[in-house]
Amino acid sequence: MKAKARMNALLIAITAVAAVVAGGCGGSSSDENKAKSAVEPTEETKVEASPDGVGRFAGKEVAAFDAALAEKGGTAFESKCAACHKLTADKVVGPGLLGVTKKRSAAWILNMITNPEEMTKQDPQAKALLAEHLIQMTNQNVSDEDALALLNFLRKNDEAK
Ligand code: HEC
Repeated sequence: MKAKARMNALLIAITAVAAVVAGGCGGSSSDENKAKSAVEPTEETKVEASPDGVGRFAGKEVAAFDAALAEKGGTAFESKCAACHKLTADKVVGPGLLGVTKKRSAAWILNMITNPEEMTKQDPQAKALLAEHLIQMTNQNVSDEDALALLNFLRKNDEAK
């Protein structure tokens, strides 16, 4: 009899400890969830305020300056861009491109090159440019590779002057 009573007391003690442990865990995991959901909206706000513009390069990481690509971009610039853009600050049909890689993000420039119509409709900075120049930059179906080459050419132009 005595042994059974001790056994019962032991079982009760184990159950009590288990309940405390389970309760403790539940409490801390709901605290974690609360902390997570407090962080999430802040991250979303960041994405909305992104300076990348609109298009397939938004939110993408762009590699650092590449001299070989810059060289290639010079050829593409002459054939596809030089009719409307100077490499100085002077405006022709479009804005002079000197300093553009300092004032815009790489992804923004890549989106402007590959997606100009949507950019001037949806991106505030591109919209302002259209209001100023009154001509829509044409979409010339520039490939991702050529767009990157052009970006690097513009980066080189900004370093050199
Ligand atoms: C038909 C003329 C035309 C051609 C061709 C053209 N653009 Fe544009 N570009 C513009 C105009 C005009 C704007 C200002 C936005 C608008 O009105 O659409 C502009 C804006 C830009 C901007 C933004 C400048 C800034 O100050 O933020 C960049 C960068 C740019 N063009 C690069 C290029 C590149 C690179 C090419 C060649 C693939 C090119 N453009 C071809 C007319 C042109």
